[in-house]
This record gives sequence, structure tokens and C-alpha cells, in this order.
Amino acid sequence: MKQLFPGVYRYKGRLFTVNLIPGRRVYNERLMTMDGIEYRSWNPYRSKMAAAILKGLKRFPVRESSRMLYLGVSSGTTASHFSDIATRGFIYGVDVAFRPMKRFVALCGERHNMTPIMADAGRPEKYRPMVDAVDLIYQDISQKNQVAIFLKNMDVFGAPEGLIMIKARSIDVTLPPKKVFEMVKKKIRKHCTIEDECRLDPQAKDHICLAVKR
Ligand SMILES: C[S@@+](CC[C@H](N)C(=O)[O-])C[C@H]1O[C@@H](n2cnc3c(N)ncnc32)[C@H](O)[C@@H]1O
Repeated sequence: MKQLFPGVYRYKGRLFTVNLIPGRRVYNERLMTMDGIEYRSWNPYRSKMAAAILKGLKRFPVRESSRMLYLGVSSGTTASHFSDIATRGFIYGVDVAFRPMKRFVALCGERHNMTPIMADAGRPEKYRPMVDAVDLIYQDISQKNQVAIFLKNMDVFGAPEGLIMIKARSIDVTLPPKKVFEMVKKKIRKHCTIEDECRLDPQAKDHICLAVKR
């Protein structure tokens, strides 16, 4: 088992995190015990973050004590791995859709370091009072205005770091993804420094991951 980042491991080409709740699966992922520690397989086809790490992203700012705001948390697939890593931190998971949120609420009941917020991420002023200081914003929202949503939240919460998964086709289907990514990066650079980036094909087609600092 090789540690790639604190709390993130690689074994035989697969990614793993240490299961916070031994014996429990979140999305039918594989569990594996080694030297008395139970690991959960982190599927890159189900989680863009896992795809980015396997594709060689060097900047992974999630730590044991990270406090993060997760926009577009859905039912918590990726968030559950962040919860495995940030055992002394906290994750605020925001989503606007009722059905996945219902599953995320149940997951938060099992994990001490996550809480659900059902809200439109485009209106951070609505949930600002519920969120303490965060050191990272993670966003995975396939909407046309995804970059504006991200920058607005970075601003409102004064987050020093951010990770955004961008889907080119949600922004403009008529342009080649490369062109969309150039436009997006130009917009982001007006507010933040892009520290690292990687394309997520083939696991997530026409997506890019950007790691930014304010
Ligand atoms: C691709 S899924 C996220 C998958 C999840 N990040 C994971 O890896 O487990 C995108 C999510 O964004 C949510 N979403 C879309 N627009 C939103 C908005 N304006 N505010 C909050 N959530 C939004 C959708 O409901 C959906 O659950």
C-alpha cells in the first residue's frame, strides 16, 4: 500500500482511503483489509476526484483537519472518501436535488464529520450563516454557470483553496472542450492562481480538474 497523499493510498493501480466506519460500504465499493486496517476502494469512474489523482494531480489539499465546503455533493460518493481522510475536520455538503440529498442525509447520520445543506449553491448568502470558516471549497456541478458559482462561493467564504471539476459541455456544447477550458481558466485567473490542472478523460469525458489558490 503506497501513500500518495495523507490518507490516500494506491495499491495495484487502485486508489483507497481508510474506512471511517469499518464494515460499511457507501456505494458498493470494494473493501480490503491489510495489516488490520480496512480500506475502501475509491472508484475513478464514480468520483472525479479519484480520476484526477490517478491522472497525476499533484495538488490535493484535503488533510486530516480540513474543513471544506462541498458544492454538488449529491448522495456523497466522493464526500465519503473526503470524510475518511478529514477525520478531524468537517465537510459541509451542499446540493439542490432532493433525491440524492436524502441519501446524503442518511450518510451524515453515520459519519461524525459531515453535515447536509439543501440549497442552491448559486445563492451562498442563504447558507452562509450555517457554515463556519472553511479552508477549501470543492465543487462538482455541471451547470452553465458553474464557474460563477465557484467564484462567488470562494469570495463569500474567503476560502484560501479550491478544487473545481469543470464539464465543458455544460458550459458550451458548440465549442471544442479545449477552447472552453481556456476561456474558463482566463476567467478564474482574474480571481485566483491556478496551481495545478488535469484532464479527466477517459473516466469523465470532456472534464478538467483545476486546483486553485486565492
Ligand atoms: C455530477 S453530480 C455530483 C457528484 C458528486 N460530486 C460525487 O462525486 O459524488 C452534480 C450534482 O450537482 C448538483 N447541483 C446542480 N446544480 C446545483 C446547484 N445550483 N446547487 C447545488 N447543487 C447543484 C446536482 O443536484 C448533482 O447532485
